[in-house]
Amino acid sequence: MKVLGISGSPRRGKTTEQLVKEVLSATNGDTEFISLAGKKIAPCSACLACVADNVCKINDDMAWLRDKILTADAYVFGAPNYFSTLNSLTHCFLERFCQFRHRSGSALAGKLAAIVSIGGLSPEMPGKAIEAMLPYYQIKHVGTVTAQGAASCFTCGHGENCSAGAVSILLRPGQKITAENTPDLSQQPGKIQEANLLGKKINAYFTGKIV
Ligand SMILES: Cc1cc2nc3c(=O)[nH]c(=O)nc-3n(C[C@H](O)[C@H](O)[C@H](O)COP(=O)(O)O)c2cc1C
Repeated sequence: MKVLGISGSPRRGKTTEQLVKEVLSATNGDTEFISLAGKKIAPCSACLACVADNVCKINDDMAWLRDKILTADAYVFGAPNYFSTLNSLTHCFLERFCQFRHRSGSALAGKLAAIVSIGGLSPEMPGKAIEAMLPYYQIKHVGTVTAQGAASCFTCGHGENCSAGAVSILLRPGQKITAENTPDLSQQPGKIQEANLLGKKINAYFTGKIV
């Protein structure tokens, strides 16, 4: 079993990436992790140039990702909440899966997907958006794990005084930002366990123990 883990966060090493890796670490498969940070992935242009051969003609990082997507048996898709939905980098990545769903059906039919869904305040939304896309590609949803990450406002240098940022919602007025009140996966050990269980669930689906 080949399992491809994708973090759609533009930030390396943060909560989305960490939790995707936790899911991967619990699978029995050959795993590969790819961060979309710094990758150039344009939205689907609806040009239909992929209809005949299932190959998207946009020349960007999806060109080399294509083969990895096709040869994986299972995916772990991780994404952060940006403005109450899936961040656009991950959305562009998943839009471009459109190249696989032509003529007689989806070239990805029957593959499995676990979802990692992260938010500074509301972690559920990106996961729901990804889950809604899976049936279009005939990919089977195995499960979702959610967790809270630190909004950039915790490190921008102005978080304690800014009325528009996440810190003003999460901390009391006048409260200082500390390591203890900055959301971090290490404060959510239950989420790491959930992620590991999700990895085991991929194994169970793949071997037919769960259908
Ligand atoms: C542009 C932007 C918009 C965001 N909007 C939301 C939001 O609407 N709701 C929310 O819960 N978190 C929001 N966040 C916070 C991120 O979801 C949070 O920082 C998360 O930890 C990012 O994932 P990462 O740590 O893996 O990078 C936003 C962050 C950015 C940069």
